[in-house]
Amino acid sequence: MESFLRQAYGGKASQQLPRYTAAVEAFRGQYGAGEIFLFRAPGRVNLIGEHTDYNHGYVMPVALDKDVLLLARPRQDNLIRLCNVEPKYQPFSFEIEEEIPISARGHWSNYARGVAQNLAQRMANGSGKRLTGFDGLVSAAAPFGVPRGAGLSSSSALTVAAATALAHFNGWQPPVEEMVGLCSDAEWYVGTRGGVMDHFIAVMGKRDHALFLDCRPGQDGSYLTHHEPLPRAYSLLIVDSGVKHRNVGNDFNRRVAACRAGSGLLRAPFPQTTRLRDVEDIPWHEIEPYLPEEMTPGGLAAVGIELGDIPGITPETTLQVRSRCRHVWSENRRVQEAVKAMTAGDVGTLGRLLGEAHASARDDYEISCPEIERLVALLTASPGVLGARLTGAGWGGCVVALVENEAVEAVSRRVQEAYEAQTGIQPSVFACLPSDGAGLLAHINGRDG
Ligand code: GLA
Repeated sequence: MESFLRQAYGGKASQQLPRYTAAVEAFRGQYGAGEIFLFRAPGRVNLIGEHTDYNHGYVMPVALDKDVLLLARPRQDNLIRLCNVEPKYQPFSFEIEEEIPISARGHWSNYARGVAQNLAQRMANGSGKRLTGFDGLVSAAAPFGVPRGAGLSSSSALTVAAATALAHFNGWQPPVEEMVGLCSDAEWYVGTRGGVMDHFIAVMGKRDHALFLDCRPGQDGSYLTHHEPLPRAYSLLIVDSGVKHRNVGNDFNRRVAACRAGSGLLRAPFPQTTRLRDVEDIPWHEIEPYLPEEMTPGGLAAVGIELGDIPGITPETTLQVRSRCRHVWSENRRVQEAVKAMTAGDVGTLGRLLGEAHASARDDYEISCPEIERLVALLTASPGVLGARLTGAGWGGCVVALVENEAVEAVSRRVQEAYEAQTGIQPSVFACLPSDGAGLLAHINGRDG
């Protein structure tokens, strides 16, 4: 077991051994002796490029070594049975069909249900062919699993893990964008819909690299991506504020609506505009006059701009059009500058860009909160920290900081102590080990120990 663990987790492999051994034992306890396939899918931290993906802009996420581990064994029929090492996630089973009944809102089975339904629809094509199901066990408990509700894409990791197993057992070897499409449609089944970033990085992560992703699909549906090596002498430190936002849906959707309003308004002066991405080369002072500070969907409809159906948005919802668009416009530029800085090995500039991205997220996109501000302030005031910003959707969750390797321990301790003293919340802090994307790690046949 140790050799594939070393491949997946490098120097941290031995720490993972007890987790894997326990999962194999639990699997056998549940389903009996026989072969086991081990799949994993990582969480992610977004280095820079926040709320740009659904505007067809640029992002630069990194895959974490914190992941969802899925042990599975193919079945002779189309049943999926899943259990979890954490007893609070109850076992469930369902048949893979083109219409799979959804479970209660928020139930963990919905991610697998969504993936299975979508794959059945894609593969069946009226052929009546039944897909192969599997018996599975999920191991994603702390400290190895992706922290939940922390803006590190734990649900996308679960979705991608289930999709990877199903694809494997059914001989489906799709191009990356099809796999990503399957997974993001699956989350739509669950009731959430972000952009494409989270599934892309869960699939395409690469050890020691960030993924540059241009979120605008080409005519043939493909995306422009490349891996950018992370600076060697530095670490990405992740600090979880412990604050979970309770109303992400509505706040998130208001941002989506404001961006759509902006691109709708910019279509008259700049006719090529379908998303905010399209005005990236136009100086801000030429764009700004066309964007009111506030507008409502009702007001937009009166001038012929329809936003489409966005849950939680009514004709009267006030949308902060100008500032939201300014964030997206400037963030796209920062991602491109960040790529250049990384290629040139200019870590100072990269750190500065993280700080600027944070200020824009806080002031223009208004997705920060007091606890995140404390963390960013504590981090930026610490020696050895080049820059820090909130990461993920916002309103809580995590902060990511670029830190000199030698300073990681001291910074972690200092921030932990000061944050707890100031807020009463004990933050979890860890250095990210940028890892590979989802895949099959190993196949243990029934005879192996
Ligand atoms: C959430 C969404 C992503 C992205 C981020 C913000 O994580 O799932 O697609 O929009 O927010 O950058």
